[in-house]
Formats: sequence, C-alpha cells, structure tokens
Amino acid sequence: MIRRIRQIGDPILRQLAETIGPDEIGDSATQLLIDDMIETMRAANGAGLAAIQIGVPKRIAVMEVTRNPRYPYKPPISLTVAINPVITAIDDEVVEINEGCLSVPLRGFVNRHVNIEVRYTDRDGNDHTATKRGLTAGTWQHECDHLDGVLFVDRVADPRTLATWDEYDRHHREAFVERITRFVERVGS
Ligand code: NI
Repeated sequence: MIRRIRQIGDPILRQLAETIGPDEIGDSATQLLIDDMIETMRAANGAGLAAIQIGVPKRIAVMEVTRNPRYPYKPPISLTVAINPVITAIDDEVVEINEGCLSVPLRGFVNRHVNIEVRYTDRDGNDHTATKRGLTAGTWQHECDHLDGVLFVDRVADPRTLATWDEYDRHHREAFVERITRFVERVGS
C-alpha cells in the first residue's frame, strides 16, 4: 500500500527511531511495513525511504536506484532493505552533493563521506557488512540520518544553496550534473 510521506515540519521526522529486535523482523507487521516502504518509494521515484517518513519511527530504510528521473546521474542500487543500519566512515574524503528528499520540497548542497562501511540486517534476518562509495555512500548517509531525526537541510553548510526543484533545474543542475558525473566516473559506487 502506498503510504503518505510525512513532510518537513511534521515532528515525527525529528524523532529518534527505535531499534528493531531480532524477533521482530519476521513479524507480519514488519514485513508489511517493508512492502509499503518499497511501494511508496517507487511510486514517488525516491532513491530511498526511511520508515519514519511514513510515520513509523523504527530503524528501517529501503534504497533502490534504477533509472531515476529525480536523480539521473546516480549509479544503480539494487533493492536494499536495511534494518538497524550502522555507518562508519573509512577515511576523511568528502564530496559536496546536491540532495533532495521526499520529505522536503527543496534541494541543497551537503558534504558527505565518499567511502563508508555499512552494517545492517536484511528483511530475512541476515547480517551484512559492505563498503559503499560515492553517491551510493551519500544515499546511505541520507537515509541513516532519517533514523536519527536528521534531515539533509540540517547539514546544508550554506542555506543560500537551497532551491526548489524548478530553480535547481534552471540554475544549478547543469553545473552539478557535470561535476558529479566526472566524480561518479572516478569513484564508482
Ligand atoms: Ni530523505
């Protein structure tokens, strides 16, 4: 079922999401929630969605990038369900990414780690550890921020870079896509 995506200003987006217990993962309520998150993310052309964005403050995020009209420069991410994800930066390299969010009607520039290690449990209860790079690492950091009640606007170093999607298209897209395409070619995901 497609669920309503909460928008900035809704206090739930500022909550600290709760850890999912190992016994909770197989519950029909949890599995149904995950199905709804995937359906809602896809319907909105999102690259990711956290449970808190549909009003459930639990530590679950879903991510998927195929050919995304919102973010055509993003490398693909196969459908990933991350339960209780934890991120560790591997080094100090950062990249400035122009981000959007299904809960915020603006885009803005945010610095993200380029190389991270992620640990998470999938919807079948299997634990994973993996290295993520570049824009994919950025997507992970954005989604994990949601679980701590953090929105990308909190991390925008210069609020003057905030733009509506129309004004991003008009004034920022060309230069950003050119720079980030070179970055993706260099770093991969
Ligand atoms: Ni978001």
